[in-house]
Amino acid sequence: MAAPKVAVVGAGVIGLSTALCITETCPSCSVTVLSDQFSPNTTSDVAAGMLIPHTYPGTPIHVQKQWFKETFTFLFAISNSPEASEAGIHLVSGWQVFKNTPKEELPFWSDVVLGFRPMSEAELQKFPEHRFGQTFTTLKCDCPPYLLWLEKRLKAAGVQMHTRKVADLWDLHSEYNVVVNCAGIGAHQLVGDEKLFPVRGQVLKVHAPWVKNFIRDGDGLTYIYPGIHRVTLGGTREKGSWSLSPDPGTTKDIFDRCCSLEPALRGARDIEVKVGLRPSRRCVRLQREVLSRGGVKFPVVHNYGHGAGGFSVQRGTAKEAARLVGECIATLPGSSSRAKL
Ligand SMILES: Cc1cc2nc3c(=O)[nH]c(=O)nc-3n(C[C@H](O)[C@H](O)[C@H](O)COP(=O)(O)OP(=O)(O)OC[C@H]3O[C@@H](n4cnc5c(N)ncnc54)[C@H](O)[C@@H]3O)c2cc1C
Ligand SMILES: *[C@@H]1O[C@H](CO)[C@@H](O)[C@H](O)[C@H]1NC(C)=O
Repeated sequence: MAAPKVAVVGAGVIGLSTALCITETCPSCSVTVLSDQFSPNTTSDVAAGMLIPHTYPGTPIHVQKQWFKETFTFLFAISNSPEASEAGIHLVSGWQVFKNTPKEELPFWSDVVLGFRPMSEAELQKFPEHRFGQTFTTLKCDCPPYLLWLEKRLKAAGVQMHTRKVADLWDLHSEYNVVVNCAGIGAHQLVGDEKLFPVRGQVLKVHAPWVKNFIRDGDGLTYIYPGIHRVTLGGTREKGSWSLSPDPGTTKDIFDRCCSLEPALRGARDIEVKVGLRPSRRCVRLQREVLSRGGVKFPVVHNYGHGAGGFSVQRGTAKEAARLVGECIATLPGSSSRAKL
């Protein structure tokens, strides 16, 4: 059999990370990324890219923790390499504050991030309206740089990238042996998944280089996430809204909320407003499926539905998707299990 041909649909953080893992686990595969949008036009470009997991109610916690750990380890290595600035990966320390002590004082990811501990009384003085807080150091992926860096690595590994809107995964069966669905919220239409819904998020990206620490309101929606060049201010969580137009009232509300947490932001300049649709689901859809028409079979691997936490679990879910691609290849007619698993 010739080199197995794998198509990855989607060029957000999930599609690009998955394509990279496939080139690593299956060096003999010919990988193509097909997407209707590329950076800077994906949901992933809107995200803050902070590594703070979101909890998927439909996935066992130990699995989510493993995904996060693999992602943290992968990005931590990049942050410690000369690639860090081009990849837009950096460590950032800060505070998650609460009005009252939360039920779960230790989130499941507390021993994966660095230096997690409760805030001291002295630290809490910065937040007169909050009585409890946690401090830790985590990683942040700045986008677009991180997505562009992934694209560059993929091109260097021989991956083709084409702009193409896929109407039906079946349309790819005559050109590819396996397809990987990383369409994010696009999967709602692409595979008719009614369990997938948008959670609209509006953010501001501002110039405020004097803000160095992240701040996250553990009870609410407000966050301040400093990147290398811009600070991301958020946010909103509007379930079921498909609107991509920024709302001016929301912009003012986000800015005011962030300034009350961090008064130094009043001097922020060059405010850019962005909206993205989180591809939300009870659990990430990470599984194999075999499409079959007229006796012809076409294996698919799904990897979408990362909701509010795609950056935080990108590498863990991409590795699992690549493993599933290997399983699909092993079952192709004429295969001698050529994929190195
Ligand atoms: C405001 C906001 C802030 C966020 N902050 C964080 C954060 O700090 N940390 C974190 O971990 N997560 C965060 N997230 C969540 C994160 O952005 C998502 O989980 C992640 O971007 C999902 O990545 P994806 O690759 O699945 O989707 P996308 O980035 O949307 O990529 C999907 C790709 O599929 C393509 N596509 C779709 N349909 C088709 C089709 N039919 N044919 C061809 N191509 C198609 C699209 O063009 C796109 O390239 C945030 C999200 C928002 C909205
Ligand atoms: C992003 O969208 C803009 C506006 O539609 C378009 O001009 C640009 O070419 C797109 N960029 C990429 C990389 O597709």
